[in-house]
Amino acid sequence: MTAASSHLTLITGASRGLGRAMAEQLLQAGHTVLGISRKQDPQLAEIAKAAGAELTQWEQDLSDPVAASARVSAWLKAIDAQRFDSVTLINNAGTVGNPAPLSSAVEAELSLALRIGLEAPMLLTAAFLGATRGWRGARKVLNISSGLGRNAMGSQAPYCAAKAGMDRFSQAVALEEAGAPNGARIVSLAPGIIDTDMQVQLRGASAEKFPDRTRFVSMKEEGRLDSPTSAAAKVLKYLAREDFGSNPVADVRDPA
Ligand SMILES: NC(=O)c1ccc[n+]([C@@H]2O[C@H](COP(=O)([O-])OP(=O)(O)OC[C@H]3O[C@@H](n4cnc5c(N)ncnc54)[C@H](OP(=O)(O)O)[C@@H]3O)[C@@H](O)[C@H]2O)c1
Repeated sequence: MTAASSHLTLITGASRGLGRAMAEQLLQAGHTVLGISRKQDPQLAEIAKAAGAELTQWEQDLSDPVAASARVSAWLKAIDAQRFDSVTLINNAGTVGNPAPLSSAVEAELSLALRIGLEAPMLLTAAFLGATRGWRGARKVLNISSGLGRNAMGSQAPYCAAKAGMDRFSQAVALEEAGAPNGARIVSLAPGIIDTDMQVQLRGASAEKFPDRTRFVSMKEEGRLDSPTSAAAKVLKYLAREDFGSNPVADVRDPA
């Protein structure tokens, strides 16, 4: 990236955890960032100002994916596409909900987890691809997946299903975009294990309903969690790789 280049990134879940750390690292001169979460982070606005970056923060609940994707589509269509050398969507927001066997799950919570974890990323990807179709800049979609989309865990059915669905729809979109003019490159990426609120939620879950809870407690005790700052740097390094998109289902630890 040169100092004169101009990049636009849309990122969900920018208010906390991995997404917050990625947003902070993206806020450099020449970058425009749209953060989409239920809450804004005033500190990010300060960071953007100091860096000479443009930041817009939406308070948008992704549990209504149709409204969120319509808003993204309208926003993209209203801005000057010619400005940007690259445009990227990072679907980062997700939720583990309250881990429990499916037989004792609360229907409304199940539905919410799938809307936030799977419907919203797919609808936002659709809106993004449609609105940026004729743009001149490089187009990328980075979906933040999880090892649990690839290896099942009891009491995590909605999370496993959302991430497995994210992996598969990314592969399907990669096939579609491969033949399109200025086709988007898309990757569903497992980001490693990160010391965020999500891990706090997993460690704090009911031991009775979530037998694997102890694994998350041990990982924390053994110091095996990556910091959000370090994980964000690794994910953004992967996003910048020349071969980004060559493997649509990947792990941040995959060698270049
Ligand atoms: N932490 C890990 O070990 C780990 C491992 C593998 C994969 N991942 C994946 O990495 C991503 C980030 O996880 P994290 O650990 O950083 O999670 P986190 O600390 O729980 O943060 C989740 C983010 O998603 C946003 N979000 C949640 N529900 C939302 C909603 N209804 N509408 C809009 N935004 C919503 C939150 O913002 P608001 O609360 O402001 O809405 C927050 O910014 C997730 O996709 C997760 O599945 C994490």
